[in-house]
Amino acid sequence: MFDTMTLTKIAGAFCMALLVLVLGGWIADKIYSPAHHGEDHGIAWIEIDAGPVEGAAIQEEPAIEELLLLADLSKGQKTFKKCGACHKLKTGANGVGPHLYGVVGRAVGSIADFSYSGSLVAVAKIWSPENLNGFLKKPSKYAPGTKMSFNGISKPQDRANLIAYLTTISE
Ligand code: HEC
Repeated sequence: MFDTMTLTKIAGAFCMALLVLVLGGWIADKIYSPAHHGEDHGIAWIEIDAGPVEGAAIQEEPAIEELLLLADLSKGQKTFKKCGACHKLKTGANGVGPHLYGVVGRAVGSIADFSYSGSLVAVAKIWSPENLNGFLKKPSKYAPGTKMSFNGISKPQDRANLIAYLTTISE
């Protein structure tokens, strides 16, 4: 059996241990508590995580509708020179590529006497400004396997100018 002295010692040691635990927890809390560190850094982390990494990969561009509002038709006409080697704007005048008369809003791959690759109809139905914008940015990426060997127009406003100009080539 324990005598009183031993019991007191055990109880004392137990209390000490408890105190160390409680104090330790409190100190740890003070050091790592969100109020002192988490808040400032937390926001910074969210920005770093969601912002630059994905943003850089996607490379947001203004919507084509907005760019069309700012479009410059005469600049678009100049840009069409890049297409002129393969495309004519007169009905029936196919060249290396199909004629582009009324192409904005026209059904994709719809010129009967032109032999298409089949890659365009696989990815789009109508040449809406959005679809043309995507195609003309990088044809080979938008419609893999396309016969149109054209690198693309990288500047969004240049594409919008061209699409606005093509819109005027119709009835
Ligand atoms: C080197 C020749 C070449 C150049 C340059 C070229 N294209 Fe094409 N284009 C083609 C060919 C070939 C096709 C048919 C593609 C297929 O069937 O895959 C085509 C198809 C298209 C179509 C689809 C038409 C339809 O009836 O579905 C559009 C729209 C188009 N081109 C627009 C343009 C524009 C705008 C430019 C200038 C920025 C341009 N192309 C430059 C050769 C060219």
